[in-house]
Amino acid sequence: MEIEINLASPEKRKAPDFYNLTFGNIFTPHMFLMRYEEGKGWHSPKIVPFSDIELHPAAIVLHYSQGVFEGMKAYYGVDGKIRLFRPWDHINRLNRSADRMCIPTLEPEKVFEAIKTLVLLDKDWIPRKRGSALYIRPVIFATEGTLGLKISHEYLFMIILSPVGAYYQEGFNPVRIYVTEEYVRACPGGTGDIKTGGNYGASLKAQEMANKKGYSQVLWLDPLYRKYVEEVGSMNIFFYFENELTTPALTGSILPGVTRDSVLKLAPKLGINATERRISIEEVIEGIEKGTLKECFGTGTAAVVSPVGEIYYKDKSYRINNGQTGELTKTLFDYITGIQYGEKEDSFGWAVILED
Ligand code: COI
Repeated sequence: MEIEINLASPEKRKAPDFYNLTFGNIFTPHMFLMRYEEGKGWHSPKIVPFSDIELHPAAIVLHYSQGVFEGMKAYYGVDGKIRLFRPWDHINRLNRSADRMCIPTLEPEKVFEAIKTLVLLDKDWIPRKRGSALYIRPVIFATEGTLGLKISHEYLFMIILSPVGAYYQEGFNPVRIYVTEEYVRACPGGTGDIKTGGNYGASLKAQEMANKKGYSQVLWLDPLYRKYVEEVGSMNIFFYFENELTTPALTGSILPGVTRDSVLKLAPKLGINATERRISIEEVIEGIEKGTLKECFGTGTAAVVSPVGEIYYKDKSYRINNGQTGELTKTLFDYITGIQYGEKEDSFGWAVILED
């Protein structure tokens, strides 16, 4: 693929000092753009200086949310090499999301090439401090300007990059979560198992409610019975009971997280029995009360592995592991980040090294 490159000015390309990095507030000097038009297909890939974009006021994505996105990360390893973590899984999920939203899919190799070219061009913006990374946000959205509800004939595929630190204000300290019985995140047959903006926009009301009560994230229950645990905030969730590490089975309304899958594959290597099944909120509360629930954590690309220290359910608050980060949570966090930073043996071949 021939990518046209239009460089930003040398002043704009100079990377700042990355201390006190938060999540998603600064962007690298370049972005990748590629357009789709019916009859022409995907065409004219280019890298341009990071800037605002122009959209038709009736662009379908603005009114009817026909758009999808991904989130992946690039890391500077301890050996000075740049690694992407499981990029092909992210790219395949992007296409799966696109297909669900009637968006034309992309050739995976072209998406990889676009990411590689952009990341290498802005490689000085990959923070080197442990715990930080370059967050890669590919997004595809419908740009045709019409108010009729229909499948767009035009799209923009864009990739932007953001040097990031920890996703939560708490850093690696346990988050407190709030179980909502009022709102649901998604239902089978809907779009909960893909990355489309609507899922996230629809979650904000419950998130606001949790925040008002002093909790940082929402624990989502299933839409039918409001009984089975689904996800937490924008992460998958794991419970470590005696002799079993378990996460909700993928029922169609849960995002098949890449970090979720990594934990399920790494746990047996640590001698831990990992399962995917239905988990009721009562089982969780009973486990906390009886002391059989040892640890709880969320997983996601942005948040990696995030300990959960407290759950609020039906007007009562329950502490897990005394509100402390558990040993297994820490071990899994270290294992995954160890692979990402090139410290630990990558027996699954998840880290892809980017060479100039
Ligand atoms: C990610 O974890 O990469 C996500 O896309 C979640 C988002 C809310 C930051």
